[in-house]
Amino acid sequence: MCGIVGIVGKSAREIVINGLSKLEYRGYDSAGIYLNNLAGKEFLTKTAGRIQDLKNKMTPDEQGLVGIGHTRWATHGKPTENNAHPQFDETERFYLVHNGVIENYQELKKQYLEDVSFKSDTDTEVIVQLISKFAREKNEDAFTALKQALQLIKGSYALLLVDNQNPDHIFIAKNKSPLMLGLGNDFNVIASDALSVLDQTKTFVDLQDGEVGDITKDGYQLETIEGQKVNHKPYELKIDENAASKGTYEFYMLKEICEQPSVLRHLDQYYLDQNGDPKVDAKIISALSKADRLYIFAAGTSYHAGLVGKQLFEKLTMIPTEVGFASEAGYHFPMMSKHPFFIFLSQSGETADSRVVLQQAIKRSIPSLTLTNVPNSTLAREANYAMSLEAGPEIAVASTKAYTAQVAVQAIVAKALGEKLGNKDATAFDLKENFALAAEGIEQVISSQSKIEQLAQKYIIPSRNAFYIGRGIDYPVALEAALKLKEVSYIQTEGFAAAELKHGTISLIEKGTPVIALINDPITSDLMRGNIQEVIARGANVITIVRKSLAKANDDLVLPEVNYYLSPLVSVVAAQLFAYFAAKDKGLDVDKPRNLAKSVTVE
Ligand code: F6R
Repeated sequence: MCGIVGIVGKSAREIVINGLSKLEYRGYDSAGIYLNNLAGKEFLTKTAGRIQDLKNKMTPDEQGLVGIGHTRWATHGKPTENNAHPQFDETERFYLVHNGVIENYQELKKQYLEDVSFKSDTDTEVIVQLISKFAREKNEDAFTALKQALQLIKGSYALLLVDNQNPDHIFIAKNKSPLMLGLGNDFNVIASDALSVLDQTKTFVDLQDGEVGDITKDGYQLETIEGQKVNHKPYELKIDENAASKGTYEFYMLKEICEQPSVLRHLDQYYLDQNGDPKVDAKIISALSKADRLYIFAAGTSYHAGLVGKQLFEKLTMIPTEVGFASEAGYHFPMMSKHPFFIFLSQSGETADSRVVLQQAIKRSIPSLTLTNVPNSTLAREANYAMSLEAGPEIAVASTKAYTAQVAVQAIVAKALGEKLGNKDATAFDLKENFALAAEGIEQVISSQSKIEQLAQKYIIPSRNAFYIGRGIDYPVALEAALKLKEVSYIQTEGFAAAELKHGTISLIEKGTPVIALINDPITSDLMRGNIQEVIARGANVITIVRKSLAKANDDLVLPEVNYYLSPLVSVVAAQLFAYFAAKDKGLDVDKPRNLAKSVTVE
């Protein structure tokens, strides 16, 4: 987590601040910037607030031709000004921004830095104090001191370092946290995510783990920590910068919810041929077809998309499919079948928990496929195969359109695989038609926005807690719906397999508790109605979200008919809108809920 930006060779202040604003999705509890004008003046500003607060705090004379900045998601130490980055050493010579976690910082502090007085509670300060110590005591230059420090450091880092005795260089290093170098004419930029500096350049070099670099305005030199030169071919990033703008929407979350029909239509164009047959790399399908069991690993919303994917894979391929939290599987590796295949779902492609599992898969030679929205991300690069989710940049911290794309791309892969395996259900599954119906269905839900807002105002916003319930394919949607509502509106919400309520949790239902019931499963719809009566009898305010063929006169939201397995694409949108309006109408920062970050690069 945390976002970092640096630039050398160009008026740095605005570029760093703009870049950080675009990286706020990676954390936004404190921020800081260091600027050096290369004429003897340097400026350090930090705040316990957001980038806007940082901007407000800076004076007009704070300018520089070299700059590094940081937006933080606190791991070690509270989000205070002292703990904000850049961190600096006791001689105030070195300034450093860092994304990641230094696991052995306490040991290093004890072993090497007992005589140093620390100003922060961060693990990061240890790096900069170590560099300073090596530079002073061994009379090393900054780059050598950095490499020496990194040889002792265990953990994850993307870092930028400026030495004010040699300020026209930015020294950089990467291990496990993303970092890319953007190349310009007479300047170079470095950032956690290319999107933050796309207005400066479209030519990038991705650093690999264990690499360090010395960047000036005219060039760059990359090597391993051990000193071996490395040479990565620069590539052109083809992203439309405008795709990351908010347009006329008040919040990114609403924009991204409303983009979902076009995401589905784009996926149709991108992954289906004219007959509706999937265009998936034959090598991926061939590798998948050798599996006796599929294992989907993910976190949060992506995990919920995986739970829907399980049902799609099992229906269309008949291959048993398991879904696991990456954060658990990384350390308690599940028992494997003989021929497992791992599928990673990740919007960002950087989730550290998923990466730990992928490393395990690589070690055990288990083939893997990553479905991600960021094609150059770590999980995409390190898996055997990768497919793009094609949802366009997702900026709001709460994931919406990436979920939709994950469900849709899993359907595409499942159909391609099922057809290869001769599964009749796969052949009969008309993705083209079903995607079109789902896109129209989503549009219909979006057009019911004002009704959804009224229901949210009447039943959800006044409550401290809420429940989503569903059965069959609606159960994973209930989990996702609950996550969405709680993460943006702070209303404690649980998603439940509807019948499970009566096995304990029903004791929480009291007068006025909102219970939102999803009904898309014809097999259990009558049972769902019974479960609804059970909570009504205990005082709940029930909101029903029901597919047309199962709807009754008093249902609140009637969803258009779409294929059962793709119904989550439509029903989840109603839940996304409930979450959106609950947060917005409570006056909360919809796009940046408290305590969160979008790209979770710590385990
Ligand atoms: C919730 C949300 C998170 C992410 C999770 C995994 O709205 O966005 O739960 O889904 O942190 O992130 P990715 O998909 O980037 O691996």
